[in-house]
Amino acid sequence: MPATILVGTQWGDEGKGKITDILADKMDLVVRFQGGNNAGHTVVKGETELKLHLIPSGILYSHITPIIADGVVIDPKTLIDEIEGLSRKGIHVDKLIISGNAHLIMPYHRLLDQAAETHLGKAKIGTTRRGIGPAYTDKATRIGIRAQDLLDMKIFRQKLAQVLVIKNEILTKIYGLPPLELDEIVREHEVYAERLKGFIKDTSLYINKMLDSGKRVILEGAQGTLLDLDHGTYPFVTSSSPVAGGACAGAGVGPLKIDTVIGIVKAYVTRVGSGPFPTELDDDVGIHMRDVGGEFGTTTGRVRRCGWFDALILRYACRINGLSDMVLTKLDVLSGLSPIKICVGYKYQGKTYTEFPPHQTIFHKCEPVYEEHEGWSEKIDQAKTMDDLPQAARNYIARIEELAGIKFSIISVGPKRGQSIFT
Ligand code: GDP
Ligand code: IMO
Ligand code: MG
Repeated sequence: MPATILVGTQWGDEGKGKITDILADKMDLVVRFQGGNNAGHTVVKGETELKLHLIPSGILYSHITPIIADGVVIDPKTLIDEIEGLSRKGIHVDKLIISGNAHLIMPYHRLLDQAAETHLGKAKIGTTRRGIGPAYTDKATRIGIRAQDLLDMKIFRQKLAQVLVIKNEILTKIYGLPPLELDEIVREHEVYAERLKGFIKDTSLYINKMLDSGKRVILEGAQGTLLDLDHGTYPFVTSSSPVAGGACAGAGVGPLKIDTVIGIVKAYVTRVGSGPFPTELDDDVGIHMRDVGGEFGTTTGRVRRCGWFDALILRYACRINGLSDMVLTKLDVLSGLSPIKICVGYKYQGKTYTEFPPHQTIFHKCEPVYEEHEGWSEKIDQAKTMDDLPQAARNYIARIEELAGIKFSIISVGPKRGQSIFT
């Protein structure tokens, strides 16, 4: 059975968690393939709201096997806290499988992330300060420590002893911080190892066997296309590859095993952290989006910057991910706004760009070109079919589909499962 990839088309927080949860009903495996606990995915079942960071969003169904694959970076304490927090709510993750190849976020990664951000001052990236960048840096430099090292604490200690010498030099001499103690970190990780060792397996082997035996697999992206290390708004990006291509590498699944790539599209755009954002609004409309949309970070609680829908970003996401399908989220948040604008071009130095520009300076300094659409005043959060939506909302949907060249399969009009229109 071919697998499905689900990705964010903007700067994250598009509602991937809600849609993964809905689709997981008809899946067997939900796989996280990149990122770490920088992600915050909210899923709602009845009155229960879950905020997930590392555990895949299909966890609310007992038939789902959740998988944390090779490309993820794992903060072991956060993962254990999340497992225990879920268990207290009666949600058990006994079936969880973690790749031994996934890298661990170590205490020095968190400290270095925080110190680097402070050091950058005004030029900071606005990271989640969870140690994501430094963990991926060590993976690429080949001095990372992996989940499988927890299965042999002698090797874990040897690797840590070597790397800690360098990290302590940086912490003390560059950032003026106290050094970390080898014994203390080893002791702490012995406890984590005991708790996690039963989950650590070869996830690529498992996923591929399941696909071959006809099981249904969804690869759930964290972050979004514009936060991709290669294709995003560098350097204001994360340190992994949240695009569809990254799913194959991160999960160890070949591209021919995929037949559906779903892009999650928020009806307006948000961004947390620093970096250019052409359609950003700092007026009452932006405040409406923030307050009605509840645009406050799931992971850090930071206010999300809000702006009009940007068709250049969507078309870019269609191209980079090879989307075959789209889901529109948070359309309900636009009720009460009129006119509603869609950015269809960027003006820079007398030229108008209609594709995502090849140079960052254009993206930084351009002026958005908008087309205006009539809004609607009525609430739409109870709409069950397309016919329940006001004509203006249907026109807005149709225009986005036309600009992308792809149809929406679901229109989401609220955080709950039932607040979804299957087109
Ligand atoms: P993710 O990181 O892409 O999974 O998105 P987040 O969970 O961080 O942010 C999306 C937020 O919007 C969450 O609080 C969801 O519960 C909520 N949400 C998802 N879909 C909708 C929708 O269609 N309408 C509204 N009003 N909220 C939604
Ligand atoms: P989900 O999966 C929104 C942003 C951070 C920062 C940049 C780099 O919930 O959509 P990092 O800590 O990754 O080094 O920070 O990326 N960022 C996110 N923004 N949603 C996320 O995840 C994000 N994960 C990272 O705010 O700008
Ligand atoms: Mg989020």
